[in-house]
Order: sequence, then C-alpha cells, then structure tokens
Amino acid sequence: MSREKMIRLRINGRTEQISVPPHRTLLEALRALGHVEVKSGCEKGDCGACAVLCDGVAVDSCLTLAWLAEGREVTTISGLGDGDTPHPLQQAFSGGGGIQCGYCTPGMIIAAKSMLDDNPDPSEEDIRIGLSGNLCRCTGYTKIFEAVSAAAAVLRSKGESP
Ligand code: FES
Ligand code: FES
Repeated sequence: MSREKMIRLRINGRTEQISVPPHRTLLEALRALGHVEVKSGCEKGDCGACAVLCDGVAVDSCLTLAWLAEGREVTTISGLGDGDTPHPLQQAFSGGGGIQCGYCTPGMIIAAKSMLDDNPDPSEEDIRIGLSGNLCRCTGYTKIFEAVSAAAAVLRSKGESP
C-alpha cells in the first residue's frame, strides 16, 4: 500500500496538486512541480537558497515538510514579479550588481521581502541580520545589502507595501 497522499498547495496564487510521501520536503515538491526557481543548496537549513514565503514569512523549504504547507500561501521568487513587471527588489539586485552566478538570488530576495514587510526602513545592520541566513559565494554581500537598501527606499518613496 502506498503511503503517498495527494496534497493541494497554493503556489503564487494558483492551486497545484502533488502526491507525496510524509517525508517529502516542500523544496522537493516545488521543484517536482516545475518551480525550479526555488534553488536547492545544502538541503539542511544552512544556505537559504531554498527560501520561499509561507503566509508571508520566509522559510527554508528544505526544512519544511510539503504537507505542512497545505492551506498556506506559498510564494516563490516568481510570485513577486517577472521580467515584464519586476519587483523593486528584483530590479535593485539586477541593476546594482547584487547578482553574479544568481544561485543565491531567489532566496536572498525572498528573505529581503520578508524582512522589509516587517521593517520598511532597515539600517544596514538590520539588513545584515535579516539576510544572515542566506549565503552567497560570489558577491561579497556588499552589493546585495546595497540593493536591499535601494529597493527599500524605492518602496518607501512609492508608499507601497514591500
Ligand atoms: S537548501 Fe535549504 S537552507 Fe540550503
Ligand atoms: S551570486 Fe553566486 S552565490 Fe550569490
């Protein structure tokens, strides 16, 4: 008898279904559904590459069981914006040198979004702490922190929620 169960996930505003065993992680389920914008790195909660928003809060999807995300709104980097209508964080990262290989970028931007939702006017230290769960092998972090600060200023000037 299969121990798999069909679950329904709300991902970027759409409902998707997948059959999973109890131990399947949200990261594995998302990528199996084609959401390869969610990156797989350490798979043990160290790098933040797999971060997604669950009801607006950044979580490591590699540490979240897929069935625990049922009934919650899951948002990946693709749910924030796209090439035609990028989110200010996406614009700031791409325009300000916050991206090199890009592998950490989806998780970084998700963590930044979660932080700015709580704190729209962060200090540099706030940004460093907010992104402390996300590792980047390429940029040296300075351009990433500057991009988050720049995006926060754009959002504040527009009077928009991050
Ligand atoms: S892949 Fe999830 S924290 Fe590294
Ligand atoms: S840009 Fe390469 S890991 Fe961050």
